[in-house]
Amino acid sequence: MKIDVHFEPAGPLPELTGSTVVVIDVLRATSSMVEALVNGAQGVYPAPSTEEAIKLASSLGREDTILCGETRGLMIEGFDLGNSPWEFSAERVAGKRLVMSTTNGTCAFFLVEDAGRILACSFMNLSAVAAEVMETDSIVVVCAGMQGLFSLDDAVCAGALVQRIRTAAKVDVELNDAAMGAVEMALTFRINAHFLASTSAGQHLIKIGLQEDLDACAEIDRHSVVPEMDDRVIQLALLGTGSSGPEG
Ligand code: MLT
Repeated sequence: MKIDVHFEPAGPLPELTGSTVVVIDVLRATSSMVEALVNGAQGVYPAPSTEEAIKLASSLGREDTILCGETRGLMIEGFDLGNSPWEFSAERVAGKRLVMSTTNGTCAFFLVEDAGRILACSFMNLSAVAAEVMETDSIVVVCAGMQGLFSLDDAVCAGALVQRIRTAAKVDVELNDAAMGAVEMALTFRINAHFLASTSAGQHLIKIGLQEDLDACAEIDRHSVVPEMDDRVIQLALLGTGSSGPEG
């Protein structure tokens, strides 16, 4: 088994066709996706920009479609929801399509579209993702980062994921340098809201009054689900089958 970690999504990525890609955006896109899908959202449609999100929502039909996401962390004018995990309650999202536009997270999914499988990971569903990729030969972990730059929260989550896989794998696991570094980071930092508050992305959320989001995003294994993108729609994977569908 080979695991490559990439700290910046826009950097050169390897050939992805035969690989399973795991996208990580702890603060907050992949955390919110997990929460929304657990609470019954029909699917998350990532959009690469606010304009594309608005177009996509109107082509899907606004009745059952919720526009959500952020710019500079805050809800976009005219959208229905922002990007706080707490906003994606069953009351708000059950049965709805969510068109989501965020600064880094949703864009990262478009950069890895050639991959065999594309999964979404956060601290909230760490063990479920590790279990789902355990039999995979080639795993590429892509951190959404922050405007093209390294983001410590994503890197530590990547390291925690690699460490879980490596500990349980029954085969030799080959890591690239970034994966080795990520594991060391995951062993160094205690993962909790206090850690997230020390990162640049966490500091920004605190500055704009969204500190409580850090508690949800730091909750390891809050859910046992794996969101998977197929045809530009992210839904819950049927675990262990290599395909998407309702939560099993
Ligand atoms: C992103 O995509 O950059 C994040 O989700 C940003 C955020 O939620 O504040």
